[in-house]
Amino acid sequence: MRFSNLLFICIVTLGSSEFCSAGPLHAQCKVEWYFSLPCRSVYEALVTQIKKWRTVSTCAMGGEKCLYKLQSASVHFISAKHTTPVKKYVDDINFRLSSYGFFTHCHVSAMSVSESWYAVTDHGTNYCNLYNLMEGSGLTEAPGYKEITSDFLCTQRSSANCTVY
Ligand SMILES: *[C@@H]1O[C@H](CO)[C@@H](O)[C@H](O)[C@H]1NC(C)=O
Repeated sequence: MRFSNLLFICIVTLGSSEFCSAGPLHAQCKVEWYFSLPCRSVYEALVTQIKKWRTVSTCAMGGEKCLYKLQSASVHFISAKHTTPVKKYVDDINFRLSSYGFFTHCHVSAMSVSESWYAVTDHGTNYCNLYNLMEGSGLTEAPGYKEITSDFLCTQRSSANCTVY
């Protein structure tokens, strides 16, 4: 799976080999999260957090936990934008929520993508766009919390410092 994806990327970029091992071709991040909570609770926690970090004031002490903008929200799909406070880069984020275990558990498939087509590295910003909402809302402490991602799915995931980004 992993190697066939890498091969595909190497072919389509016609030998731009620096991208082959660096992770996604475009700065982006995809994360799967699992909770022993109903999706309704996960949904409410995420939407509340996005609204709480709406203005630039929550970045007054540094970091990028601010300037989130809710685009649309339903219990199955949340869409938002995040703007970095200094350089004003805009990233599109979304969370797809699906229930399992007779509605007692929730699987969240999350994605963040930089709008700038030329952004190849992002210091883990796309990962932090998603993780900061999970942590800020307390969901990282929720029952059954589990995260699945990798550097291949998320640009610079392993070196991300979400206190800064
Ligand atoms: C992340 O950055 C903060 C602020 O610069 C620093 O205090 C902290 O040690 C860093 N964490 C890691 C894991 O590098």
